Amino acid sequence: MTITATLIPGDGIGPGISAATVRVLEAAGAPFEWDTQVAGVAATERGLDPLPAATLESIESHRVALKGPLTTPIGSGFRSINVALRKHFDLYANVRPARTILPAARYPGLDLVIVRENTEGLYAGIEHFIGMEKDPKAVAESVMLITRYGSDRIVRFAFEYALQHGRERVTLVHKANILKCTQGLFLEVGRHVAEEYAGRIAFDERIVDATAMQLVLDPYGFDLIVTENMFGDILSDLVAGLVGGLGFAPGANLGTDAAIFEAVHGSAPDIAGLGIANPASLLLAACLMLDHVDEGACADRIRRALSSTLEDGSVLTPDLGGDATTEQFASAVIDRLSDDAAQG
Ligand code: NAI
Ligand code: MG
Repeated sequence: MTITATLIPGDGIGPGISAATVRVLEAAGAPFEWDTQVAGVAATERGLDPLPAATLESIESHRVALKGPLTTPIGSGFRSINVALRKHFDLYANVRPARTILPAARYPGLDLVIVRENTEGLYAGIEHFIGMEKDPKAVAESVMLITRYGSDRIVRFAFEYALQHGRERVTLVHKANILKCTQGLFLEVGRHVAEEYAGRIAFDERIVDATAMQLVLDPYGFDLIVTENMFGDILSDLVAGLVGGLGFAPGANLGTDAAIFEAVHGSAPDIAGLGIANPASLLLAACLMLDHVDEGACADRIRRALSSTLEDGSVLTPDLGGDATTEQFASAVIDRLSDDAAQG
């Protein structure tokens, strides 16, 4: 049985790491057939809209997509396509697991998940300038949008995810001491939802700044963190750093009708075109996609092949201290896949 899925190779290092990822997936016998589509700069360079209708239609019909990083112009130019995709498909849950797979990692055996609200908060993009006298940009204002509905569904999602994935504790992270309305509502709703899971999943709540410190001092005290949009964005990069950096950070954007899997890192313009990007994050994102379509065994085989490639350490990309290319790294992972098969 094959599953047709949308593939958006992306910008910068995107096409290179996507090609490597697809090659590993094929070698592992993953059941995907790819419908390749463009977005972002890759689309505008072809004279298309940054988010072409054909791309949206493809995701609409296949409901699962693997997406390489997309370049967002800073300060001006078109708005983030990543944000637009989340909004269009109402991908309200951003799941970012952080698990140590690097042998020499600073925090061995770390395994935690961040569930980030993906559609509200400051990133809802409700912002404007207020002009005064001759300065059209005298004041800039952004609205932190928090709804009861959005808070309820993300905290509920976090608890359901915890139940399904054997997690024992949900920590709700907030800043309700200062932002009494917005963050206060998020916390109030969260506490309410938590009551429904009492006795099954432990619940605690923490303030975001203290959480950042605690994550560095003793990340083992956390199991699953649920938080609003911007805090989740920042904390998930922080925990990616704890497990070896952006080279090992996959993410899933989940809604009721579609799921888009991607690496947490961006298009890395500084190394684009050199063929040396680390494809591991996108590969791990593809593993989350395999889990999502009930192909967990295939995902685990790829994860084992990846860990054993890293443990071996002879074929690594420059960000990991080696001198291998993206393609050489992918080939090393593929070789380990067959070792795994031979061991049965
Ligand atoms: P970035 O994640 O692209 O790069 C940060 C640093 O990490 C750079 O030094 C880069 O070389 C390195 N790096 C990132 N991924 C790597 C990989 N796979 N292998 C080896 N090194 C890697 O972040 P930056 O520079 O802030 O953003 C670049 C562009 O990417 C921007 O246009 C930004 O908007 C976009 N972006 C897109 C995302 C997405 O599509 N989900 C997420 C984050 C940023
Ligand atoms: Mg981010």
